[in-house]
Amino acid sequence: MQRAGIQVIAGMLCILASLEASAQTPGPSYTPAQAERGQASYVHSCQVCHGSALDNGDFGGAPLNGSWFREHWGKSDVGALFGYVAATMPPDNPGGLNDTTYADILAFILQGNGYPPGGQELPSDPGALQRMTLSR
Ligand code: HEC
Repeated sequence: MQRAGIQVIAGMLCILASLEASAQTPGPSYTPAQAERGQASYVHSCQVCHGSALDNGDFGGAPLNGSWFREHWGKSDVGALFGYVAATMPPDNPGGLNDTTYADILAFILQGNGYPPGGQELPSDPGALQRMTLSR
């Protein structure tokens, strides 16, 4: 009897834990205005290699949308994507933009991948970005 009780409690804790885990990993948030700002910076710093449609660039720039993006980033969180981009892009000036600009550009890329906009801007804080999953 006591044992059954413990199992029930353990089961409930598992359910609670998984509920909490899913509640803690919402999708990315960004606003349409932020994506628009991001597009301007993207045109300036990224478009030559990644293209006006995110997948039609020159100079070996990988596609930033579609199945390519999904395969590379679809199981990650925004923090991983932010970290990669801020550490490596643009290749001739990695880390050369400020964090807010990187966040704005990511908002534009997320928009181009069909993530829905919301009322909150995408932050540039690594911890907050890690809590936003790209999986959907
Ligand atoms: C000089 C050309 C060039 C510019 C400018 C450039 N990139 Fe890239 N980017 C590349 C290349 C080449 C790769 C592939 C690198 C690799 O696979 O190792 C890449 C890869 C990426 C990836 C990973 C794509 C994937 O899933 O494989 C992202 C995201 C990205 N770039 C974002 C940006 C952003 C944002 C900017 C502007 C701030 C930018 N890039 C500017 C050339 C460029």
